Amino acid sequence: MIGRLGREKIPSIDGADRVRMLGMSSRALSFGVMPEAYEQFRPGYPVELFDMVMTYAGQPVRTALEIGAGTGKATRLFAQRGVTVTATEPDGAMLAELLKHVPANVKTMQAAFEDLPPGESYGLVYAAAALHWTNPEGRWSRMAALLEPGGVFASFGGPAQLADPAVEEAVRAARAPFLESDEVPSPDGTPPGHDMQWPGTELQRSEWFADVQQFVIERRLTMSARDYVGHLSTISAYLELPTSEQEQVYSQIMQVLPETVEVAADITVHLARRRCEQQRLDNQMPAPANGNPDMPRRAPATLTHGAGGICMRLAVRSCRL
Ligand SMILES: C[S@@+](CC[C@H](N)C(=O)[O-])C[C@H]1O[C@@H](n2cnc3c(N)ncnc32)[C@H](O)[C@@H]1O
Repeated sequence: MIGRLGREKIPSIDGADRVRMLGMSSRALSFGVMPEAYEQFRPGYPVELFDMVMTYAGQPVRTALEIGAGTGKATRLFAQRGVTVTATEPDGAMLAELLKHVPANVKTMQAAFEDLPPGESYGLVYAAAALHWTNPEGRWSRMAALLEPGGVFASFGGPAQLADPAVEEAVRAARAPFLESDEVPSPDGTPPGHDMQWPGTELQRSEWFADVQQFVIERRLTMSARDYVGHLSTISAYLELPTSEQEQVYSQIMQVLPETVEVAADITVHLARRRCEQQRLDNQMPAPANGNPDMPRRAPATLTHGAGGICMRLAVRSCRL
């Protein structure tokens, strides 16, 4: 469903109904219980992130598709700088909140990543703190189908962690009777110390993408204790607790917090470029049985490869689409 001017009327469904109708996990759809709190307490995204994506793209990006746009925090970053964004989000309550905050030229669609209609492709597809909620099956072929050849995929996000280890430990102890951890584990089990983190690891294994890069934008925020607890109230692990336990855990945590807290809210960014079909096939071809494995597997007669085997925009015309 996409409105002519990109504004569709969003039906209101909630709780168990929403989960049943969309066939998604309740944790993935927990955010829409408190869309205003999400908008109030979650930090936005800095302009350095926009600049980083544009530098990587290496050419103007005119159209973007956003996966799991939530209340539109990352939508604004791109839409306010001239990119025509189609913001997609499965949760009607989050999408209704988004519409209050994004420029009028943002198109919206109520859909999970898995249900996005095929057909249209974009110069950029991105997900802000949302990709880990999507179904891993067919994730990268589906992603590639949404991108123009040579188009850019970006995923970014990261936890907001208390910078002072003593305060962090006090909060962990206050939380322990209710929740062992409030983090989402790496979807492919990549350990935290690994050089390349998820989803960079999956992108590197995917035949559809090349030139996978990972960057970290360091960010330190100072918040009141109340705002920090407000932020916790937007995190899925807490949203999954029964309401009475939520109240108790927030109150226990409030008691151990100083008046203001320093938060490390670094943003980890993964960028990759969609291969054109010809490059993908080249990449799949086995080495010739009796030939020199160092020889090119297929003469790139009709292809112009950029640095790192990337299908540059100029080469797009020569790719078989
Ligand atoms: C942590 S929020 C991030 C929202 C926003 N992108 C941001 O950065 O503030 C995760 C969002 O992903 C959405 N989501 C959950 N499962 C999804 C799926 N399968 N496809 C697309 N979005 C999904 C949720 O509804 C929620 O709005």
